[in-house]
Amino acid sequence: MYPDLLGKVAVVTGAATGLGAGIARRFLEEGMCVVVNYHSDARRQAAEDLVAWSENLSAAGERQSKARAVAVQADVSVEEGVFALRDAALETFGRLDVWVNNAGIEVRYKTHELPLEAWDKMIAVNLTGTFLGSRTAIEHWVELEKPGCIINLSSVHERIPWPTFAAYTASKGGVKMFTQTIALEYADRGIRANCIAPGAIETPINAEKFDDPKARALTQSMIPSDAIGQVSHVADAAAWLASEQSDYVTGHSLFVDGGMSLYADFQRGDG
Ligand code: NAI
Ligand code: BGC
Repeated sequence: MYPDLLGKVAVVTGAATGLGAGIARRFLEEGMCVVVNYHSDARRQAAEDLVAWSENLSAAGERQSKARAVAVQADVSVEEGVFALRDAALETFGRLDVWVNNAGIEVRYKTHELPLEAWDKMIAVNLTGTFLGSRTAIEHWVELEKPGCIINLSSVHERIPWPTFAAYTASKGGVKMFTQTIALEYADRGIRANCIAPGAIETPINAEKFDDPKARALTQSMIPSDAIGQVSHVADAAAWLASEQSDYVTGHSLFVDGGMSLYADFQRGDG
């Protein structure tokens, strides 16, 4: 638990499922207030279930009884979407402290067959969405001369090239450089920006792959710690990055990947 997080307000994008939902739950367990963003009607129920879960948290303790959540539909790739999320934080909870750009998509194409529309969509959600969310939060903090914290979900693929996922890797490499740039630009205002760079984590984005035992084993063999990651690994990193415990950390990519980004083929000392 991080004492300073109690009562702080966060926006978490794409929070109906996977890592976003895990981060939102972790923040709520800290006694934070969370805007739970979901995109499509298909995700509405999951977002509302998360809000209902938060309403039952009071049984967990005094701190958790302060947790509040609201589900808000928005597309992060358009300005009105992120404005709606900011407004929901300010109107429902009266402040904004943390913004997590988590929403993301992934499609696989050989690069010479990658349609422009698929490239554009990937960049729009993963990179433009991260820019729009960050800009909206920073604008608010600059106006109020307040500190703030941005957490962007990049990936091990901000560093590791990934054939047939060129649009995805380009978007995540972009998220990394964008994050470092805003970290530098706003450090003297007390605004921090960091990435979490997860490896292979058990979420819907990987569900199809991990349902196939052979594909799952292959991915696992690429992870030095020999385990697929869990949502809680990433949620714990997000809570630390949101808290004052990390207040000297900015422009950093925190790899939560069981060593996946460490050139796993070298694990036995060959080469
Ligand atoms: P997920 O598919 O469960 O989550 C993505 C969420 O983003 C979904 O809830 C989806 O509805 C939402 N979303 C998509 N387009 C949106 C839009 N236009 N506006 C608002 N929300 C939108 O998958 P997961 O794994 O939870 O992914 C979360 C983030 O973590 C993504 O950015 C992904 O690239 C990143 N990541 C995931 C890894 C993994 O192994 N699961 C590893 C590295 C990075
Ligand atoms: C992707 C996952 C993949 C992981 C490791 C993530 O960015 O979203 O699908 O398993 O990287 O390759």
